[in-house]
Amino acid sequence: MRSESKYLALLGLALYLAPFCYGATVSGTVKGPNGAPVEGAFVQAQNTKTKVSFFVLSDHEGHYRVEKLPAGEYRVQVKVSGLRVDPKSGVALTADQSVALDFALETGMVRWNELSIYQAKKLWPEEKAKQQIFTKCFICHGFQTRMASVKRDADGWLDRVQFMRDAMHFSLGYRVTDQDATEIATYLHKLYGEDSVFPKSPTELPGYKETVRPFSSEATSIAYVEYDMPGPSRMPFSAAPAKDGSVWIPNFGIGNKITRLNPKTGEMQDFPVPNEGTAAVHSAIAAPDGSVWLTEQASDKLGRWDPITQKITEYQDKYAAGMEGREDGGSRHTVRIDSKGMVWSSGYPLTRFDPETGKFNDFPEAAHTYSLDFDKDENVWFTNPGTLRQPSTRTNAELWSTPTAQCGSANSKRGRSAISIRRRKLSMNMNCPADWMRFPTRWASGSTTASGIPRTIWM
Ligand code: HEC
Repeated sequence: MRSESKYLALLGLALYLAPFCYGATVSGTVKGPNGAPVEGAFVQAQNTKTKVSFFVLSDHEGHYRVEKLPAGEYRVQVKVSGLRVDPKSGVALTADQSVALDFALETGMVRWNELSIYQAKKLWPEEKAKQQIFTKCFICHGFQTRMASVKRDADGWLDRVQFMRDAMHFSLGYRVTDQDATEIATYLHKLYGEDSVFPKSPTELPGYKETVRPFSSEATSIAYVEYDMPGPSRMPFSAAPAKDGSVWIPNFGIGNKITRLNPKTGEMQDFPVPNEGTAAVHSAIAAPDGSVWLTEQASDKLGRWDPITQKITEYQDKYAAGMEGREDGGSRHTVRIDSKGMVWSSGYPLTRFDPETGKFNDFPEAAHTYSLDFDKDENVWFTNPGTLRQPSTRTNAELWSTPTAQCGSANSKRGRSAISIRRRKLSMNMNCPADWMRFPTRWASGSTTASGIPRTIWM
């Protein structure tokens, strides 16, 4: 049985960008079993009808304040690891109304699926399979919803690892051998099978306490909104606002579609790609003419959604000889459209597609590129994860990184360095600061609730 939460892939955005300029307020305090204020509790007000959720964190005095809520009925709940309290349902809010709700939390249990990847790194037993999971599986997702939330028997684990190898063949086909797969399945069964080696709660493990990292009070000042994706098999990889106020979302993995979100109502509409088999749609962005360009990482294609027909046309890029179907033989990653309508995409390798001629113009000197963006002079900036990104920097926090001026673009700081390409000359910019973690929150540093919250800060 899969837990419902797995179906609810979520997106978030900084609240100040949200289109709600007025509205109701819910505020109050969060206290622990001893009556002391609880700092850093996630307070969620979810609109019962639209399912749109507004999140804030409680401050060092336990105060929280959710503002600018559209009128409607809400379910307000508090999430903090190791403590629990029942949600308050049926909270009806009219426009501009202020409601006070206080929460008194009881002692609860820390669950395995609330740990961060950092904590798993510290607490999972050392074996070769652990290393494999960290380097080959966590490229795409963590263990919280997909591994630690489900109990499977030995066959069940093998079956799911095999499913991943088939579904994500472009990535795992050449990275995970049959023997690796057996070792990974055996290890996962040991951790999260019927006879798990782990105690019920990670708090019972020696060394757990040292894995709980502190966070600054400043980190609790963030507020954001989450939208539920409209179905299973979703992995929303990013969210790009278009001129008309809608937001475009690529569904990675076997989802094979892009989704248009109306951030005012929470409504979403899917548009399938024609590709058969896994497309792994990685990026989707609206062009000035209203069309939407997307990348398919698994099938090495670009796609264009037509605003009139609302259908997607695909364009196949070429593979290196003998490396067909492999990510490193050819794959499209992040897409951006320049002012001349040229479609740039990162991946293996960086390429520029001309929609008029239908030709891909590859840049072999940028053989493996991750993210991509333009600066104001339309230099193209990208990162090269293969050589410049350091494995030690791969924590949850990276997914939450925020724009830094020195790095040239909101997206190019994922690896700590960026390369720019201008008139086909390569130059290196090593100025990207290591301290791009503007929100040194619990998400960055090892939280619990963090695992279930959005992959994307939409800025
Ligand atoms: C290229 C990206 C990618 C890689 C690499 C990857 N996964 Fe996944 N994984 C996904 C996606 C996407 C889903 C969601 C599929 C779905 O729910 O339809 C998923 C789902 C899962 C699930 C849940 C399946 C289910 O039926 O509930 C498990 C378990 C899993 N992955 C394990 C692994 C393991 C173990 C590895 C490493 C050997 C791995 N994954 C590597 C993308 C990836």
